[in-house]
Amino acid sequence: MRARSTAQKGRDRVSRRPDANQAADPADASQAADANQVADPADASQAGDPAYRFRSPGQVGSELRGAGYLPDERISSVVYLGDRLGKPVLVEGPAGTGKTELAKSVAAMTGRRLIRLQCYEGLDEAKALYEWNYSKQLLRIQAERSGHERADWSELQADIFGEEFLLARPLLAAIRAPDPVVLLIDEVDRLDAETEALLLEVLSDYQVSIPEFGTLTSTQTPLVFLTSNNSRELSEALKRRCLYLYIDYPAPERERDIVLSRVPGFDVTLAGQVAGVVRSLRQLELKKRPSVSETIDWAQTLSLLGVHEIGTDLVIGTLHVLLKHQSDIEKATTELQRSR
Ligand SMILES: Nc1ncnc2c1ncn2[C@@H]1O[C@H](COP(=O)(O)OP(=O)(O)O)[C@@H](O)[C@H]1O
Ligand SMILES: [Mg+2]
Repeated sequence: MRARSTAQKGRDRVSRRPDANQAADPADASQAADANQVADPADASQAGDPAYRFRSPGQVGSELRGAGYLPDERISSVVYLGDRLGKPVLVEGPAGTGKTELAKSVAAMTGRRLIRLQCYEGLDEAKALYEWNYSKQLLRIQAERSGHERADWSELQADIFGEEFLLARPLLAAIRAPDPVVLLIDEVDRLDAETEALLLEVLSDYQVSIPEFGTLTSTQTPLVFLTSNNSRELSEALKRRCLYLYIDYPAPERERDIVLSRVPGFDVTLAGQVAGVVRSLRQLELKKRPSVSETIDWAQTLSLLGVHEIGTDLVIGTLHVLLKHQSDIEKATTELQRSR
């Protein structure tokens, strides 16, 4: 502890760009040159917008479809704007509606590396941002002590709080990445409010401040997606930094198409019926309404059973694939029997 606080005094407010060490690499040098060019909007448009990944929402839509994700117009347009405005996209909605899959598909279609931070209660700075590699620091100190030419203590402190001793966790890894990445901060509503605050600097400035070291700023603007299952209200500060996308259960035609894309060889008419049944189940007062992933599971079940026609008895017999609470299964069974 003593070593950290002393070193902190000496190194506070040091700002270092992570690319400083990499400037010798010609590939990085050309990337840096690109980055300078795009600072001028006129240049950017003349050069075919090199700073941006997408030309139009329509292009986002067709590339997402190419990656196996079926978006609606709003999804495509928010992804497009996130890239254009350099802003993170906060994706909210019920579980299993394709929020995580959207970020994965954007990574797949752009060929970018996906860096994922899975949020959970109790996640802290050391798991989300960075950690000092204490054992390596200790070894360094021991090596120094046993050496003939002993370094000055303050010199040693400066040394052990260098980049070499940092363990980058997902947020810092995304900021330091030399290649363009997609950062997925998944299920952010599971974090407690203080930990949520850790995200703010990353989301607004794409940088991470490390008291003992300085500020690490990103060389590329990552495409950032945050997902939330709406289990609690997120802070205004976090929302302000993001574009907002609500993904609800899909319209029946889109859900039919999702089934067709995820279950190879599935019959079109049957897929339409599957989407229709799921839609009517979602209209019941259930503890947990069936998600898109459960619709897909159900279609796969029907495919395995070799079903060609969906009747009430079949639906009742396979409800456990769609509903995961006994009270929901009982309620749905009663409804289905009544409307027979
Ligand atoms: N628009 C979509 N296009 C294709 N598949 C989808 C779509 N929406 C949902 N899915 C399917 O539903 C599954 C669950 O989606 P997921 O992203 O894990 O849900 P969540 O919203 O809980 O993050 C995915 O694995 C995918 O197979
Ligand atoms: Mg998810």
